[in-house]
Amino acid sequence: MESHSWQEWEKKLAAVTAAFEAEIAGATDEKAVEAIRQRYLGRKGGVLAGMLRTVGELPAAERPRAGQLANAARGAIEARLSERSAQLAVAALERRLAEEQVDVSLPGWPVPAGHRHPISIVKAEIEDFFVSLGYDVVSGPETEYDYFNFEALNIPKEHPARDMHDSFYLGETTLLRTHTSPMQIRYMQAHAPEVPLRVVVPGRTYRRDDDATHAPMFHQVEGLVVGEGVTMGDLKGTLLALARAIFGEATAIRMRPSYFPFTEPSAEVDVTCTVCGGTGCRTCKGTGWLEVLGSGMVHPQVLRNGGYDPDRVSGFAFGLGIERMAMLKYGIEDLRHFYTNDWRFLAQF
Ligand code: DAH
Repeated sequence: MESHSWQEWEKKLAAVTAAFEAEIAGATDEKAVEAIRQRYLGRKGGVLAGMLRTVGELPAAERPRAGQLANAARGAIEARLSERSAQLAVAALERRLAEEQVDVSLPGWPVPAGHRHPISIVKAEIEDFFVSLGYDVVSGPETEYDYFNFEALNIPKEHPARDMHDSFYLGETTLLRTHTSPMQIRYMQAHAPEVPLRVVVPGRTYRRDDDATHAPMFHQVEGLVVGEGVTMGDLKGTLLALARAIFGEATAIRMRPSYFPFTEPSAEVDVTCTVCGGTGCRTCKGTGWLEVLGSGMVHPQVLRNGGYDPDRVSGFAFGLGIERMAMLKYGIEDLRHFYTNDWRFLAQF
């Protein structure tokens, strides 16, 4: 009886150990290992504690051996638990390293960079050119007095540009400037009688126009030089150098007599056609030339209005449209592309 009972106890302990081994092998995380630890080694409900309680029921001669066996089993279980914990920790770390692996040889995410607007590019090129010649770069008010926009520039009352249909009037004496030329007067009045004056004025201008080549808002650059002995030759040399800086060194210019109320004489300036290089094509209507700006020698009355004595100084002036320059430089056919902000258009610059 007794030996039978002892054998049963030993068998039971072996079964416990085997069950533990099966469970611990199947544990896949630290939480499962902890649960198994509680189940087998827990002081109160633990399986091993239950086994130890039954040692007292064995014959006295067998008890020490049973105790030893139970302790050995406990030691083995504890060792196996720590071993499994360590294995799981290593596996978890390896899994995490694999998941978070970064392939440093992969190309990075492209960061989409913006583009400068073609108007800004051409404006900056024009400014840079004139800065290199020692010109001042200033801007003026976009809402202007009738006096600076027209009166002081010799533009008579009956001139069509003064018509409500051509200009945006804000009040009786104020309007959105129709050109950058009023800054000729403002700049002269601010600096007279100082000479020489060399200034360019880039900025927005407004007219009641809207088609493929005219927008209600557009950009101009005004130029003004005033000094002793300033000639039309100076004007021509300056504009030739400008045309070459913007359109390329092979560019030529030609000046055609024209009329502006604020210059005398006045000239319209053409550059070699940017499409055909001067041989004649559809863009230049077979002439080989494209008109790019208006210019002339500052009218004596305009010099006077600016505070200068036309008997002592002379000057030249010019005004160009940045949109027109950009259209010719880049071969853009419709002015409205500049204002629709279609990134497919803008991304080309
Ligand atoms: N202000 C003129 C316009 O908007 C352009 C112009 C022509 C400006 C001749 C000038 C000039 O300074 O001399 O059409």
